[in-house]
Amino acid sequence: MSSNPVNPLDKKSQAWSALFSEPMSELVQRYTASVTFDRRLAAADIAGSLAHAGMLAAQGVISADDHAAIQRGMAQISADIEAGRFEWKLELEDVHLNIEARLTQLVGDAGKRLHTGRSRNDQVATDLRLWLRGEIDALAPLLAGMQRALVTSAEPHTETILPGYTHLQVAQPVSFAHHLLAYVEMFARDAERLTDVRKRVNRLPLGAAALAGTSYPLDRERVAKTLGFDGVCANSLDAVSDRDFALEFAAWAAITMMHVSRLAEEIVLWMNQNFGFIDLADRYCTGSSIMPQKRNPDVAELARGKTGRVYGHLMGLLTLMKGQPLSYNKDNQEDKEPLFDTVDTLAATLRIMAEMVAGIVVKPEAMERAAKKGYATATDLADYLVKKGLPFRDAHEVVAHAVKVGISRGVDLAELPLETLKTFHAAIDNDVHAVLTLRGSLDARQVQGGTAPERVREQMAAHKARLG
Ligand code: ARG
Repeated sequence: MSSNPVNPLDKKSQAWSALFSEPMSELVQRYTASVTFDRRLAAADIAGSLAHAGMLAAQGVISADDHAAIQRGMAQISADIEAGRFEWKLELEDVHLNIEARLTQLVGDAGKRLHTGRSRNDQVATDLRLWLRGEIDALAPLLAGMQRALVTSAEPHTETILPGYTHLQVAQPVSFAHHLLAYVEMFARDAERLTDVRKRVNRLPLGAAALAGTSYPLDRERVAKTLGFDGVCANSLDAVSDRDFALEFAAWAAITMMHVSRLAEEIVLWMNQNFGFIDLADRYCTGSSIMPQKRNPDVAELARGKTGRVYGHLMGLLTLMKGQPLSYNKDNQEDKEPLFDTVDTLAATLRIMAEMVAGIVVKPEAMERAAKKGYATATDLADYLVKKGLPFRDAHEVVAHAVKVGISRGVDLAELPLETLKTFHAAIDNDVHAVLTLRGSLDARQVQGGTAPERVREQMAAHKARLG
């Protein structure tokens, strides 16, 4: 084997062919380079290359010696990257060409044979999928941690009464545990969705080459197996141009952040002095540089705010894809930064929100006081009358009168004397006060999925069993 000492990638402008008669303009070089950000894919790029090289050797496309040289070179490159010693060059455009050029520098011709039967188009799609799969596997436990934190915070509060709201007006009493478990349901669905997204991320593009496949006898299944992919992308054009997997992930992230943001908004409200339902430990609050009394729930506010950028990334990626003709287009280089930022935002947000939620200080008296203020047991009085034989609509009307009187006297229904209550309807008797209490209302909601403490404890046990 003759070893050509010239490394074509040293002069990037000639990387693709001798066709070019002048070097790339410096502005173009800077505009088109992605190595400043896509170097984040280095580990995936190396794993993909090693799997490809192993298969090329097994198929007899490259020699065992070349394979060994590639392995040796890549081991050094990995170590150099990890140690921060690797010299990334903007002239070499992206992570792929940087690594390949260095490999060739280290091992000569074997490095130049690595790209046989491959294109950067199927290479980058493979790298991105491999990288994203790893990130998904790191995000899943954070999502479970978020659910665990909510369950832990909920556990002592199956009997702690909170005003349940609709239209942000006091509606019916619910337990604080029931309220937190609503979020556990949301994050459990997010976890389900993430598992589903992973299935479609985990398919191998390599073998598609530039767009049409390759004439080399590649064993794609073998590469898929080596890299832990569940299967290969069936159509080469689709393999190099599909970014649905990234879009689905971004959609998952947007939905998850929407849930985080709703919780964050509630934490901000609950912290407000007019609610006073919870307190947050000082370590999760920030002060004001001018108002000495302030303790602000900045973490929750920021989580709510960061939801915007994650939505933005989803919209950005959708827009990136919508006008692209088949197959690969350079536009796709723009898929990375939004995806990276989405992953980083989700990881940081889930981690800190879980920690903060686990440290919520509950103020049950304030919650109960608020529930009492809003005629939260009005529906219970109506239900009481229905049990005495009134049609529900009539009962509704009777109770509306009772509430009106309560409001004019500034008292809750439970505080109205029996004689007064009787004036609203003759069926009202001395057993009425039992249903007018918040506790009675809570206990009555025994339906599956309801807020009665037994039901909530069942839900909690199910979540604990699932979360392990
Ligand atoms: N940096 C490119 C990207 O991120 C790699 C693929 C480039 N392929 C090409 N034919 N120019 O998409």
